[in-house]
Amino acid sequence: MIAAEAAATGFVIGRPRGRPLIGQTLDYLRDPIGYLTQTARDHGDLVRLRLAHAVVYLISHPTLIDQVLRQRADAMRKDIVTRALGPLVGQGLLTSEGEVWRAQRRLIQPAFGHQAVARYGAAMVALAERMLDEWTEGATIDLHETMTRLTLAIVGKTLFDAEVGGEAEAVGHALEQVMRFYLGPGKWFPTLRYAPLPAANAYRRAIAEIDRVIYQIIADRRRTQTDRGDLLSRLLAATDETGSRMDDRQLRDECVTLFLAGHETTALALTYALTLVARHPEVGERLRLEVRDVLGNRPPEAGDVPRLTYTEAVIRESMRLYPPAWGIAREAIAEVEIGGHRMPPGTQFFAVQWIVHRDPRWFDQPEAFRPERWADDLVRRLPRCAYFPFGEGPRICIGNHFAMMEAVLVLASIVRRFRLEPIDSGPIRVIPSITLRPRDPLRVRVRPLKH
Ligand code: HEM
Repeated sequence: MIAAEAAATGFVIGRPRGRPLIGQTLDYLRDPIGYLTQTARDHGDLVRLRLAHAVVYLISHPTLIDQVLRQRADAMRKDIVTRALGPLVGQGLLTSEGEVWRAQRRLIQPAFGHQAVARYGAAMVALAERMLDEWTEGATIDLHETMTRLTLAIVGKTLFDAEVGGEAEAVGHALEQVMRFYLGPGKWFPTLRYAPLPAANAYRRAIAEIDRVIYQIIADRRRTQTDRGDLLSRLLAATDETGSRMDDRQLRDECVTLFLAGHETTALALTYALTLVARHPEVGERLRLEVRDVLGNRPPEAGDVPRLTYTEAVIRESMRLYPPAWGIAREAIAEVEIGGHRMPPGTQFFAVQWIVHRDPRWFDQPEAFRPERWADDLVRRLPRCAYFPFGEGPRICIGNHFAMMEAVLVLASIVRRFRLEPIDSGPIRVIPSITLRPRDPLRVRVRPLKH
């Protein structure tokens, strides 16, 4: 690299003092987000950490994040935590690499374009309306639990036309069991899944249940050969340039991947958005006005989404403050130059949305919930990777349009019919597991609106 370029992109490496052998591991484990945020503020945009046996660079400047996630994506693979999901999601999109990933992404991408996902809008709204029909005056709603049930039903319906309470619930329940193992003993010792322990037995039973339900659905569909208008029909029909289709194993891996990646993140986006709306009545009022102006007295549909701009801004702003995927990690598989420094294969990088989304260099009053900041196309004015709730580069979330449409339609459906009053008023505390879950119940009281 020529000198002028190096100067323009060179970043000083921060090196916080650590303990012998374990470096910063204990500080990190005690409070991952708090520790990383403070470290970035104290030691800069590129910080070298030792976490367990790995050297990890915390990257907190959009230029560095863009280099890792997009410009040098060819020299990276997913990190060890994502790879540990392999036994569950196999060669699905989230964990596959190289040619397998590229071919699958090309095959599946068309099913997730703007127009393709619009056809799922009606199912999303119908399921939201069904949920709202059960809400009564003054009822207490646990948002995380309720939104998880809803997004599970939506993924079940749109992915494999499964009815609520049936297959979708069975897969959702089994996935929860599997994740419990990954977040517990399996987090540090994945091979424990083979051990004769109760937690590992439950894990293996859950995987067997997922396989049973999903292979059954695939077999039924192959037999009847009907296009049910769901995603599975599209996956079954998708062909690559040689005309070949996915086999059962690949279909199973993609279904489990989409199920897992598709419902919890969206449930969290809605949970935090509804909590913030309940705590900011002026935002709730503005939302109601927009929904009334755009919809009059009818439920929303996919075609309304482009005009529900404030509703979308509320979702964006909630994901800025509480990104459902709170950090993205990569491991270099070749020597790379990042921030002007050569780094060997095996180097780990960690880009933490929580930190960058709350950086005052990119967002005024970063801790404040202000959906109006997204007016006048802020998305386009920000540097690339200053806001990246869906990631960036070739591995950007394939479900981003699906998720945004779902979140906007569900939020609009709720505020059209109900006002939300907060029950809990303490700080929103989070658990940074693979996703960013609320530590305490986030509950609201609901009041039906008169039409
Ligand atoms: C608000 C909701 C969502 C958020 C915040 C979110 C976030 C993300 C992020 C950050 C990544 C990139 C991970 C990385 O680069 O390592 C990702 C990947 C992915 N997401 Fe999402 N996601 C959401 C909803 C969905 C939905 C609804 C689906 C499917 C129905 C989905 C399916 C996927 C898949 C398959 C990948 C892997 C893509 C690949 O590597 O090619 N996500 N998501």
